Amino acid sequence: MTVHHEKLILREPEQQDKQKVLAYRDSFKANLSTLHGSAGLRDEADYERWLRAVKASKLTENKTPGFVPATTYLVFEPSTEALIGMVNLRHELNDDLRNYGGHIGYSVAKDKRRQGYGAQMLALTLDACRRLGLQRVLVTCDVNNEASRRTILKNGGVLEDRRWIDDQQMERYWIEIK
Ligand SMILES: CC(C)(COP(=O)(O)OP(=O)(O)OC[C@H]1O[C@@H](n2cnc3c(N)ncnc32)[C@H](O)[C@@H]1OP(=O)(O)O)[C@@H](O)C(=O)NCCC(=O)NCCS
Repeated sequence: MTVHHEKLILREPEQQDKQKVLAYRDSFKANLSTLHGSAGLRDEADYERWLRAVKASKLTENKTPGFVPATTYLVFEPSTEALIGMVNLRHELNDDLRNYGGHIGYSVAKDKRRQGYGAQMLALTLDACRRLGLQRVLVTCDVNNEASRRTILKNGGVLEDRRWIDDQQMERYWIEIK
């Protein structure tokens, strides 16, 4: 594996990111790959509406049933300005997140995988968790998702258990970030 040492940039999406975000979404559709960490972008035809929802979902006063406050980050490769990943950071856990979803969802563009970006992206997201005041972060992955498991393990994840959700079994890892 080639390890990239370029320091990625994580920042929240803005209007100017429209073309890159939609292209990212379309590339996942074309690859039939699941768009983890994108705050519902897969099913949203309207970028502006998605952006408004992403901004609203950060607010602690947003009490949409079943949702907790969350921040969505775009991840850029500085030298190319390419959008190479997306992250969704849930600020707290509800029952579903505690059982299966965890604090963080993430994805890396297919042509940018296996270069160390996923692991770095998760590390940068853990810094954001620290800034939010979290001390322990739950990250989960499907038992068959070796790439995600290894990304979590590289960031200090400790397996608590495996839990079923419908016909899918998830591994639940805790990362101490004190
Ligand atoms: C999971 C994902 C984000 C990893 O991103 P990435 O940039 O390829 O990860 P890295 O290059 O940092 O690799 C991290 C570790 O995973 C391993 N890895 C990456 N892809 C792998 C694969 N397909 N099979 C086995 N191991 C893999 C790497 O070798 C590395 O481990 P190592 O250093 O111990 O060898 C990426 O595969 C992805 O976007 N998958 C689709 C979405 C998804 O599953 N998200 C997670 C939801 S829980």
